[in-house]
Amino acid sequence: MNGQPRCRINGSDVVLAADEPLLFTLRNRLGLKAVRFGCGLEQCGACVVLIDGEARPSCSLPASALDGRTVVTPEAIGRDRVGAALLSAFELEQAGQCGYCLAGIVMSAFALLARETNPSRARIIEALDGHLCRCGAHTTILRAVERAAEMLGEPSA
Ligand code: FES
Ligand code: FES
Repeated sequence: MNGQPRCRINGSDVVLAADEPLLFTLRNRLGLKAVRFGCGLEQCGACVVLIDGEARPSCSLPASALDGRTVVTPEAIGRDRVGAALLSAFELEQAGQCGYCLAGIVMSAFALLARETNPSRARIIEALDGHLCRCGAHTTILRAVERAAEMLGEPSA
């Protein structure tokens, strides 16, 4: 790595502050507030973003680990058909309650559906295992991910 780390965030090139965790860059410097701070310890999933297509917590991820990589935040997933289907399905199923943990959950669901077109419920549970949701909305969240998968499997008009 030469000089400060750089990466692409939602399609734009960004120079990162070397010691700053990605979450702080996103929220404080770039104004991408959909990414949430929960535990700060990679334990709750509120801060999950996509790094080269993988769902990863951003709260402890140092900028130095991001040089040359691609980051997608919840603000940008609606540009993609998988993201658009998920956003629509979560709304239709009225999934989740607080909106605090939901953005991270949708990012992990996105990473799953981008790879697997028809995941089983067990696979969805596994993919969302790192996310804390204390409101009891788990069933609606699982239904929303299944519904998004169904929508993506339907032939486009
Ligand atoms: S804030 Fe990053 S996992 Fe909880
Ligand atoms: S949707 Fe946030 S705690 Fe359940």
